[in-house]
Amino acid sequence: MEQRTNFHSKLGIILASAGSAVGLGNVWRFPTEVGENGGAAFILVYILCVVLLGLPLMVSEFVIGRHTHKNTADAYRQLAPRSGWVFQGYLGVFTSWFILCYYSVVAGWTLKYLLSALAGRVTTIDDSAAYFSTFTSSPWLPLLCMVAVMMMCHWVIARGVQAGIEKSSKMMMPLLLLIIAVLVVCSFSMPGSEEGLRFLFKPDFSKINSDVILSAMGQAFFSLSIAMGCLCTYASYFSDDAKLVKTAGSVALIDTIVAIMSGFIIFPAVFSVAEVSPDAGPGLVFITLPTVFQIAFGSVPFIGWFFAVMFYLLLLLAALTSMMSIHEPTTAFLLERFHLQRRTATWIVTLSCIFVGVLCSLSFGPLSDVRFLFGMTFFDFFDFVSAKIFLPVGGIIISLFVGWRLDRQLVFDEVTNHGALTFRLFPVYRFILRWLAPIAIGLIFLNELGLFK
Ligand code: PFF
Repeated sequence: MEQRTNFHSKLGIILASAGSAVGLGNVWRFPTEVGENGGAAFILVYILCVVLLGLPLMVSEFVIGRHTHKNTADAYRQLAPRSGWVFQGYLGVFTSWFILCYYSVVAGWTLKYLLSALAGRVTTIDDSAAYFSTFTSSPWLPLLCMVAVMMMCHWVIARGVQAGIEKSSKMMMPLLLLIIAVLVVCSFSMPGSEEGLRFLFKPDFSKINSDVILSAMGQAFFSLSIAMGCLCTYASYFSDDAKLVKTAGSVALIDTIVAIMSGFIIFPAVFSVAEVSPDAGPGLVFITLPTVFQIAFGSVPFIGWFFAVMFYLLLLLAALTSMMSIHEPTTAFLLERFHLQRRTATWIVTLSCIFVGVLCSLSFGPLSDVRFLFGMTFFDFFDFVSAKIFLPVGGIIISLFVGWRLDRQLVFDEVTNHGALTFRLFPVYRFILRWLAPIAIGLIFLNELGLFK
């Protein structure tokens, strides 16, 4: 088994964790949720969820990972041996693996769209909805794309923490932020874009109901990569002088800025083109945007090509850095628990995810008639179970674990680096973990299950 290493630098820690957080969730899921849940009011609820629930939970995962320097499952075993809490360790590992199975399918779509954009196809498609459904329902091409992105992710993970995850995050994240800045400028310069800004900034509070709150919370957890073992695993590679609260704050800030910037990129562009609607659902970035690129830039071909290439490159980079962080928890678990070589552990995770990913991918085509609970396809089932069940359950368990089960002094020492840092809000942080987070997450979760209806 390989020697355990740490991230080499503080910048590496922040960029790798931000790489985990910034992903399809920001560029693909967030604008979709904003569009479906009424715009600005949703964004406000979302920000509240990030600050009140997301941040404390992120710090808690950092505490567990950094204190133990172990993979997620073994971390809980060390902190609460032979107790029911160990379940959360396994749930974290399982959830990350589970998410990777369907996340890689959408990541594969971004690769296909990037290649099509490069070839000048995206800006010349006649019917983008038909193009999207023909592509996703065909049996082979989406599979091939999914396998290709899985192999890119595999390549990085097999290289290990410093040479793989840290080095690639340090290259990909700055590039990603640069592309976002360029695209925001492009999008703002379109005529009619003010309408999109109004949609993003003018809240309509009548839209807020329990569904919207649950969606905002689910989105915040998903976007910050909470309760999936990723942050805990990455934190196990943090050095002992890393500042946990500050790192969590930076990661949440970068993540929220990128999400809102993605809204800035997408909505002004969408509104500048009158005939498309902002609530086009998950097809937004694959169906609506190609139409937008075409109509908005039809007469200036190079700009349209450039915008489309940059946009899908952004999506692919965002997806890859997140996939790396979802791959690592299971890899680290296998390699440490079963004393495997990193290469072997990485292959096991990659191949098993590809195997299940095939079902998710085919659920848009040949397997579209195979339905589970409530008529969901494989893909919908994976998305629903992870975002709406595993995440809230994991969130409740983590907050109870750190709030009630872990020794107060242990947590305090960890967040203050044994007294070297001050953390005045520690009582508030503990109050949130003990009461607010479990109750809020629990109520919203039960409501979603229909208990109060
Ligand atoms: N946070 C990533 C995103 O916003 O796309 C997705 C993600 C990463 C989900 C890591 C889950 C995870 F464990």
